[in-house]
Amino acid sequence: MNIKDLLNQMTIEEKLGQMTQLPPHMFIEASKTTVYGDMRDLELKKQEYLLAGSVLGIKDADEMISVQNIILKHSRLKIPALFMADIIHGYETIFPIPLAQAASFNPNLTKEMNAIAAVESSTAGIHVTFAPMVDLSRDARWGRVMEGYGEDPLLNEKMTKAAVDGYHHGNPKDVGYLASCFKHFAGYGASEAGRDYNTVDMSYERFYNVYQPSYQVAIDAGSEMCMLAFNTFNGIPATINRKLTQEILKKQMGFDGVIISDFDALHQTVAHGAARDDEHAAELGLHAGLMIEMGSSTYLTYGKKLLNDGKITLKQIDDAVYKILALKEHLGLFDDPYKGASKSREKTLVRSEKHLNAAVDLSLESPVLLKNNGVLPLNKMKKIALVGPFSKSQALLGAWHWHGQSSQNQTYAQTLSKDMTLVSVSESYDVSHIKDVDAVILTTGEGEYDSGESKSKVGIDIDLQASEAIKTLQKNNIPTIVLVHGGRPLNLTSITAADAIIYTWFLGSKHAEVITHILLGNVSPSGKLPMSLPRHVGQYPMSYHDFNTGRPFDPHNSEYTTKYLDIDLTPLYPFGYGLTYGEASVALITELKNHWDGSSPLTLIFQIENKSNFVIKEVLQIYMNMHPSIPVRPVKKLIHFKKQLLNPYEKVLVEFSISIHDLIIYDEDKNQHFDPSTLTLMYGFNSKDTKEIIIDWRPHHDIT
Ligand code: GLC
Repeated sequence: MNIKDLLNQMTIEEKLGQMTQLPPHMFIEASKTTVYGDMRDLELKKQEYLLAGSVLGIKDADEMISVQNIILKHSRLKIPALFMADIIHGYETIFPIPLAQAASFNPNLTKEMNAIAAVESSTAGIHVTFAPMVDLSRDARWGRVMEGYGEDPLLNEKMTKAAVDGYHHGNPKDVGYLASCFKHFAGYGASEAGRDYNTVDMSYERFYNVYQPSYQVAIDAGSEMCMLAFNTFNGIPATINRKLTQEILKKQMGFDGVIISDFDALHQTVAHGAARDDEHAAELGLHAGLMIEMGSSTYLTYGKKLLNDGKITLKQIDDAVYKILALKEHLGLFDDPYKGASKSREKTLVRSEKHLNAAVDLSLESPVLLKNNGVLPLNKMKKIALVGPFSKSQALLGAWHWHGQSSQNQTYAQTLSKDMTLVSVSESYDVSHIKDVDAVILTTGEGEYDSGESKSKVGIDIDLQASEAIKTLQKNNIPTIVLVHGGRPLNLTSITAADAIIYTWFLGSKHAEVITHILLGNVSPSGKLPMSLPRHVGQYPMSYHDFNTGRPFDPHNSEYTTKYLDIDLTPLYPFGYGLTYGEASVALITELKNHWDGSSPLTLIFQIENKSNFVIKEVLQIYMNMHPSIPVRPVKKLIHFKKQLLNPYEKVLVEFSISIHDLIIYDEDKNQHFDPSTLTLMYGFNSKDTKEIIIDWRPHHDIT
């Protein structure tokens, strides 16, 4: 298709239509598709909304085909619509929530999950997913931490690359390829007070070093679209923030794809106090290079008037429409507008046995074992009591589970009873009647819809009834295994007396089966915390990679040092922490010089030893600090990690190559700094318990 020719034939109304995205129910009454956010009555005339160039969400192949037929029938130039949806952690075969995927510290699993999601999505003719969400966050009060990859820049970057590569299954014109729309640009995970949609204000030094890297990785991985964030970014709504979109996203970061607003966000720039009214919002959006407005109709309604009044230019519209048409060409929609939408493909591919089996295998590495005094694995135990609100629950998919059906989930009661005698199953915390069992499995945490969009909370403590139950069981000498469910870090302070604690997250379609495999020891847990677990919600925002401050906490003389009077300032469980059923040790075996100039990579070889008879997977993590440094460096910053399988009593060599890329720090003008310094490398199996390597960093003269 010759996009330039097509563009030149289009009327202004047709061009403004391409810049508008509406939900399918506006096209057909029958549509039952869920639209996230309140759908205001847009007062659009039929001949207006039928011009829409893309559709938000779709139920299935039948609905997609009928909506595409309606749009093509009314399109004078037969321009097909793009169909986009929130395929965040699966289409109908649902995988662990993204935060749980990050807990695996194994990005390849995410790549495989997203490839399956892309194939299932293609059966309904979905062309673009609004994912990955790559908003780094240090604040568990923000409900959307479940949708991201945690507090660390490197883990965010690795997961982002894997997520985009997974959706990009095959070639863009192939059926089964899902274009990706990374989001939300920018800094949405830093919403003040963890309150969703709230203000975001940060220095450019922090943005460049902490929040921007994962967006850059999405761009470099070829993500075709970028969704702007609801929040203001340094005083201006991201949706109309020209510095953000033009100077940073396009010029500095090199993004050359389609920029879309979040749901109704262009209209909401009036509520922000930026735009006078919808007409002004449309003007600001066009000047900011916003190409598609989702769920509102200011472009369709006011675009022609703004053009006639000389407030916007035809070039601004043409540049946007060109990109939208080019994306449709990139995906082969002019040749095949339905691209895989078919009931027969739905029947064979969606929730297929192959996909469901994969959901088990790909989820096993997400749960995090926080404590185990030897009570796990349960393979030796036979009589179990199961208690707590999740004991018979099927609501284990996690928020954003698109077409996933909880009703098809197995419960713990079902999966555990296949291998052991469940003496009793109760959804309460009442354990007073329990005796003569080998152990109690106590399920607790927050529900799957207690996190996600617009689900900010300050109450993240575990239900006190759980700790009361643990006390009772311990008095009766009954071992207690606690399964914590959550889409965000929770405060586990009240349950640390339990004999074992597993953070299960929400693992999707095969949640209960996966946890049962781990409880039975069919596989050792290998997850690591992608976000620190707090002692109190008041510690947020918090992360392991904070600065030292000029008065670092000194336990021997804490008077005038950074601290809280009423709580230990460290996390209850640190970033990168997680146990296995085994025990591993690590030793550096490279003979290192005590200085380095960066002219060639620094190679570190470690030996990891499995001192147990379990098959385990351990994550060796490498952190760094540089002192002195301006700007200052975090006390620790993760620069490498590797997950390693270890057979019983096996010793394995693991190699890392440290490059000057790992040492980069940006100032507020994005200049890089490598000043001579003492480089401290720290290694271990979590961010707290590490051993140090001290190196005199003297950058080679050609390293500026
Ligand atoms: C929502 C979310 C965004 C999602 C969009 C479409 O409000 O903020 O992440 O992709 O609307 O559902």
